[in-house]
Amino acid sequence: MKATRLALLGGKKLGPVPPDQHPTFTKRAIQRAVKLLEKGATVGLGKHHPIIREAEEAIARWQKAKHCMVVSSGHASLQIALLGMEIGHGDEVITTPYSWGASTSCILHCGAVPIFTDCLADTGLMDPGAIESRITRRTRAILTVHIHGQPADMPAIMKVARRHGLPVIEDGSQAHGARVGGRMAGCWGDASGFSCMGFKLLGTTEAGYLVTRHEEVYWRAALFSQHMGRSPDPGFPKELLPYVDSLVYSYRLSPITAVLLIEQLKKVDREIEGRRRNVALLREGMQGVGIAEFPYYPAGTIPSYYTLSLNFNPIHAAGVSRDTVEKALNAEGLPIGHYVPAPIPHWERLRTRGYKGPKTPWTAQLAAAGVDYRQETYPNCRIKIDRSLDMDWNYIRPSPEKMGRIAAIFAKVEENLPALRDWQYRMEKKAATGPPGKIKPSRREVIAKS
Ligand SMILES: Cc1ncc(COP(=O)(O)O)c(C=O)c1O
Repeated sequence: MKATRLALLGGKKLGPVPPDQHPTFTKRAIQRAVKLLEKGATVGLGKHHPIIREAEEAIARWQKAKHCMVVSSGHASLQIALLGMEIGHGDEVITTPYSWGASTSCILHCGAVPIFTDCLADTGLMDPGAIESRITRRTRAILTVHIHGQPADMPAIMKVARRHGLPVIEDGSQAHGARVGGRMAGCWGDASGFSCMGFKLLGTTEAGYLVTRHEEVYWRAALFSQHMGRSPDPGFPKELLPYVDSLVYSYRLSPITAVLLIEQLKKVDREIEGRRRNVALLREGMQGVGIAEFPYYPAGTIPSYYTLSLNFNPIHAAGVSRDTVEKALNAEGLPIGHYVPAPIPHWERLRTRGYKGPKTPWTAQLAAAGVDYRQETYPNCRIKIDRSLDMDWNYIRPSPEKMGRIAAIFAKVEENLPALRDWQYRMEKKAATGPPGKIKPSRREVIAKS
């Protein structure tokens, strides 16, 4: 059977496949927020405000955590987790090179030094087997990230951490409701930070929360980030009273957003289940497709699919590059990209030698610690980055029709690999020779003209 012509090559596209709106707010959520606005109740300084208390109790119940503090962002939640553990100047925190920058910048903003350990090539999650070789006398914690809605291997990470007496911080910003080993992401470590900005699974406007089972971490985090350290709240430790002041990061959350959090929490499980159902439908539909593979998850690993990160199979594509496949999928109306541009330690602003950009607060601190990330390689992280085919995954209502269409787009690209190979060859040739009339003059020609 003759393959239908790709949109990239002038054919008719199969897409778009419109995602569902996300986030959505129930009438009740909107009414509750409006009521607060009407009353001018826009500020909540701690648990003594009923909405802040309600939000923190609801999240703590859902996360099975002893303590919860709502904050202004995911970054704030991670930074105060570290501050709550008294991690600061010169301390080393082991983390992953495959993430959103906030899981690294929260360490830098405490004056500490991120030490990167390689990830798993299939998922981009922290490799528990690679952690131990990065532990030194200065290591104070392990910060792991549940990236793309996939939970990291927490049982194995906790085992390594316990062996070395290190606390663990989980960044669950992309993985609300993901489960591993029978427990939810964020319920394993000593403290966890979550983002609840609008794109996230538990999406509001801009928000985040810290959960921890350690009371002292909670209060120290409050001391650094909340109005007067939340000292009027019940249970505030007397020994911290001399240190209560306004030398804080103002990371408190408005009750307007807190009330949205409360209401979003009531439907987040149902929405995540819908995302999972759609991935299951897509898996079924893509059974015959070889250019893109689903990552492998050990039994008991249940992602929540903030995004869907597939892996390009270069052997199957036989000469057609990931970027060409990505272009072909995009032209069909499927917005696919690659989320992490390069291993975080290789980002320009983490250079310690020869950095020429705007001054950062961390360049000197990293140089003083003797760090030169450019000397380090992260082979599995590189493989994940080079193979990633990432999709936003706001497919919330189960839809066999939409999943069938996405599968059909992948199948169409696969059927057209020979035509794509020719196209890629032509493009490469064009790039090598340049457009007519724009060929760079040789050095001799330049000299002859001058
Ligand atoms: C993995 C990860 N960590 C942390 C954050 C930071 O969250 P926020 O943007 O709310 O500060 C994000 C947000 O995009 C994230 O994806």
